[in-house]
Amino acid sequence: MKILGIEHIGIAVEDSVKDSPFWNHILGLTHTGSEPVEDQGVKTDIYDSGKGKIELLEALHPDSPIAKFIKNKGVGMHHVCLEVEDITLAIKELKDNNIQTIGDAYSIGSEGFKIIFIHPKSAGGVLVELAEKP
Ligand code: CO
Repeated sequence: MKILGIEHIGIAVEDSVKDSPFWNHILGLTHTGSEPVEDQGVKTDIYDSGKGKIELLEALHPDSPIAKFIKNKGVGMHHVCLEVEDITLAIKELKDNNIQTIGDAYSIGSEGFKIIFIHPKSAGGVLVELAEKP
């Protein structure tokens, strides 16, 4: 597959409004968007460094994977997202190599990206997201 770079790093937070000033005002990253992604049960809050983004992830409800993640591991780094040229090809390649994905097909994530997650078991303990730009 062709990787185009690091798209963003996902960070699990309790309250993105409370965390926002650090990313926005202290580090000076541009806030580029905030949107609910119902599929994943999260609200995403995105800050752009110009070379890769920070994606704050806040649970939309108590059953959200992010709520469970925070309950088990606390707030902090949640996933790394790599931009791929062609997600359909990437998914096929993962399957051909017996790499475990979360779900079998891509879904639509924040900013309209086509996304799929690779299980940490297959990626050295790190949750990896692949994303194709819309
Ligand atoms: Co992400």
